[in-house]
Amino acid sequence: MEVLFKVIRQQQNSSPVVQTYVLDTEAGNTILDCLNRIKWEQDGTLAFRKNCRNTICGSCAIRINGRSALACKENVGSEIAKLQQTEITGGHANAIPEITIAPLGNMPVVKDLVVDMSSFWDNLERVAPYVSTAGRNVPEREFLQTPEERSRLEETGNCIMCGACYSECNAREVDSDFVGPHALAKAYRMVADSRDSQTESRLEEYNEGTKGVWGCTRCFYCNSVCPMGVAPLEQITKIKQEILDRKQASDSRSIRHRKVLIDLVKEGGWIDERQFGLQVVGNYFKDLKGLLSIVPLGLRMLARSKFPLSFEPSQGTQQVRSLIEAVQQQENKV
Ligand code: SF4
Ligand code: SF4
Ligand code: FES
Repeated sequence: MEVLFKVIRQQQNSSPVVQTYVLDTEAGNTILDCLNRIKWEQDGTLAFRKNCRNTICGSCAIRINGRSALACKENVGSEIAKLQQTEITGGHANAIPEITIAPLGNMPVVKDLVVDMSSFWDNLERVAPYVSTAGRNVPEREFLQTPEERSRLEETGNCIMCGACYSECNAREVDSDFVGPHALAKAYRMVADSRDSQTESRLEEYNEGTKGVWGCTRCFYCNSVCPMGVAPLEQITKIKQEILDRKQASDSRSIRHRKVLIDLVKEGGWIDERQFGLQVVGNYFKDLKGLLSIVPLGLRMLARSKFPLSFEPSQGTQQVRSLIEAVQQQENKV
């Protein structure tokens, strides 16, 4: 089967260009097989990373038809099937199937499909991704863990540091201080590790500003592209829960945001937006600067008749309340 590969190529400090290659290939060939053949048979100048060819090393992550993935995991057949799905729902059927290959996002291109991953590694370092030395300093030959303690590390321990999640992260795209999903998944691995003795200081660190868990916009992209099932968003949520369990609403705006949201939904079945702004940003009238900061927004909403002047509880308030209470009881049991 003939397939047209459209490869987005770029040299440092120059604009990207699209270069096309036609390859006679089979459905079972991986995208990495195809890139290798393009390089060996057609164009030795094409640059990309690879190593294990077996979904282990994480080197070959690129964007395939617009989503970040491992080139050695995805194959031609499944890519074409996905494209055909899109064509049925409104795209145009091509005489020859096309697969678009591009470098990962959120990192500058060094050459073609090779990106500079310095920020990815630097951000990982910012969460102190090592079991603390103090935690390892025990009067035993080995630090034993129960199977249950070990099982808490399984999901996050599968991370191969491929960068696919980082490439798709919306928060990372707009906030250069945000450490990224890979780093926060690793951060939870440290929090969950029974051998580590720095849990409290770690949680303080991950709670700060928008560099840690509160910078995440919960877009879910990291979970959907991760080739190893690490589910970074789930790990971020677990860290948030650990922080919320230890903090009062008065401690910070991020904490208030979560607690007030739950309280208001529990009270009225949905959010009373007037209360939400006053309690979260205005800290129950204690934060004058915060209050003043939302006055212009409030006035604009009033002028456009979008400011809710009254609040009607939802008809399903009782059911919503029961659901929240059931979840809270479950959490208290854990
Ligand atoms: S869910 Fe959060 S961490 Fe994951 S990609 Fe979206 S913004 Fe980034
Ligand atoms: S969390 Fe998943 S996508 Fe992100 S670096 Fe690790 S393996 Fe790759
Ligand atoms: S080459 Fe190692 S994960 Fe693809």
